[in-house]
Amino acid sequence: MRGFRDGDAAGLAEIANEAFSDEIGRGMQVFDKDYFVKRGGRPGVRLVVAEVEGVAAGFMLMTDATVETPAQLHLVAVESGLRGRGIGGLLVGEAVRLAMDGGAGKLKLSTRPWSKAMRGVCEAHGFVEEAYLRREYLGEDLVQYAYFVE
Ligand SMILES: CC(C)(COP(=O)(O)OP(=O)(O)OC[C@H]1O[C@@H](n2cnc3c(N)ncnc32)[C@H](O)[C@@H]1OP(=O)(O)O)[C@@H](O)C(=O)NCCC(=O)NCCS
Repeated sequence: MRGFRDGDAAGLAEIANEAFSDEIGRGMQVFDKDYFVKRGGRPGVRLVVAEVEGVAAGFMLMTDATVETPAQLHLVAVESGLRGRGIGGLLVGEAVRLAMDGGAGKLKLSTRPWSKAMRGVCEAHGFVEEAYLRREYLGEDLVQYAYFVE
């Protein structure tokens, strides 16, 4: 796990466009290199890359408590061929660690109700389901989870 480097941008855009293809079909923006380069250097934005054999295999993007409270995990994605090996869980665990280090009392995220993999990762990492938001994003429902720092 490491911080973003500009050279990761094209690979992360490819991972994101595949991982969020359904959402892009609903109207989410298409990811490009600039999306990651801009956010990678922004204060309070944490863009973390997971590598497999030296190549970016996934990422997570969050804002810490210097930008908004609660801190928020905005995106996590793992390359489709590398899912189910614990990489998503490591990225979510890192978001919790960074939120705590940054002084956040709460880290929130939202995901689709039908995303069994993401819901499983949240529950395995101590997140609790907090809210069910109807037609919240691109016309479809979201489930909000939160991790509370005790
Ligand atoms: C969500 C995502 C990041 C998880 O990444 P991952 O590397 O596969 O995650 P992990 O391997 O750490 O854990 C996956 C867990 O979900 C479980 N899982 C995976 N697919 C599942 C399914 N269809 N049904 C039930 N459980 C499933 C796995 O068994 C695993 O649980 P375990 O740790 O108890 O074995 C990945 O699926 C992804 O990129 N999805 C597309 C993008 C997305 O939806 N992001 C979340 C919203 S921002």
